[in-house]
Amino acid sequence: MLQQSLDLALVSGVGEGGIPDAAFDKAVADLAPALARLAGEAKTLPLLGLPAETADLEPVRVAAARLRDGASDILVLGTGGSSLGGQTLAQLTGYGTAGLSAFLPEPRVHFIDNLDPLTFAALLKTLPLKTTKFVSISKSGGTGETLLQTIAAITALRGAGISEDKIGWHFQGLSEPAKPGKLHALRALLEPFGVPFLEHHTGVGGRYSVLTNCGLLPAAVLGLDIVALRQGAAKALAPVLAGKGVKETPAALGAALNLAAMRNGKNIAVLMPYADKLALLTRWWMQLWAESLGKDGQGTQPVGALGPVDQHSQQQLYLAGPKDRLFTVLTVANKGKGPAIDAALAKQIGEGDFADKTIGDLVAAQGLAMVDTFAKNGRAVRKLHVDVVDEASHGEILMHFMLETILTGYAMGVDPFDQPAVEEAKILAKRYLAEGRG
Ligand code: PA5
Repeated sequence: MLQQSLDLALVSGVGEGGIPDAAFDKAVADLAPALARLAGEAKTLPLLGLPAETADLEPVRVAAARLRDGASDILVLGTGGSSLGGQTLAQLTGYGTAGLSAFLPEPRVHFIDNLDPLTFAALLKTLPLKTTKFVSISKSGGTGETLLQTIAAITALRGAGISEDKIGWHFQGLSEPAKPGKLHALRALLEPFGVPFLEHHTGVGGRYSVLTNCGLLPAAVLGLDIVALRQGAAKALAPVLAGKGVKETPAALGAALNLAAMRNGKNIAVLMPYADKLALLTRWWMQLWAESLGKDGQGTQPVGALGPVDQHSQQQLYLAGPKDRLFTVLTVANKGKGPAIDAALAKQIGEGDFADKTIGDLVAAQGLAMVDTFAKNGRAVRKLHVDVVDEASHGEILMHFMLETILTGYAMGVDPFDQPAVEEAKILAKRYLAEGRG
């Protein structure tokens, strides 16, 4: 169960540097219509129906089984919202975690979300292509990065001597259905090879798609419990569907805090989990927050941090720099976990207090100490806590942040679902490519 505490974000909790209590109260009042609007959309906003949805799970399982079959490596091609959700879920199994990634069992899953010519060339050269599969994910089916990677993968397979009739075996597509009379580029590329497609939900945009087949397919490939993910998400959503007020709805309270923060000079929102399994969550959240709320000259800059490592990197700035940040520290019940510290060796190095403690004991103490140090230094800090990082708690965290973002957007008066500036740059890049510019 996700727990949230806002006390240390307010002036009454941290003194000067906190968010004025009156400003928070005003934001809570302003959130009421936003929350009522969201509750009223229970039947029309597809995202809110996802936690209870089950009909789409079987096709995901079937596609996941087909992908695993005979595969040593699976490259998930897609960018932005078509990749970050899958990545944060995959990290539950160790994907993307320094020191663990290299030892993960087959099939090894790789998310290639950034278009970099050298990385992609090196991957295609190094991977055992005969046993490598590719998942091309693009809601629109027209994103240049994903299309070019997919074309390069087909070319590499051909170069490895794979016959035309076998190329389809190496691919899975995931995209919206083709619109009548319009070319759907990704389908036009892959369907002639007989590549099967999962349908991307037409009513759920990329950065909100982690609980659709977009995030669930990689999760299922990795053997994660996709039902538990949705059940966890249902917990965060329950107060909204039950028509609870702002104070009984954690996501709405979080939105009120963020709204009050942005109205009171806190231009930066920092999310700092204390668990490797949540490191990529910050990248997913940064996209969600930035792309949903950076509109009409408004928005706050999302920053992802990780504890405890960033105590040795960012902490000086966080504690002694400008008081223009709202911190969210997300702790996990780490006590008693991990290797135990040998008492004799601890004493030998003059650290008797470490004796018979575990590494988890230290990380738990560090998270707590960080929150208290923020507060002592007059920094606005929200505490979030989960006991374990598993599918259920991750689903709850993801839905919490999606709801918080939507509600903040509604209260700001911006549309949290569009991204006109992103589309503009996509279109211009295609023109420059055609003109040979760059
Ligand atoms: O969240 C979003 O809407 C974007 O980040 C998209 O996911 C991203 O631009 C990729 O788009 P598409 O899935 O259409 O390829």
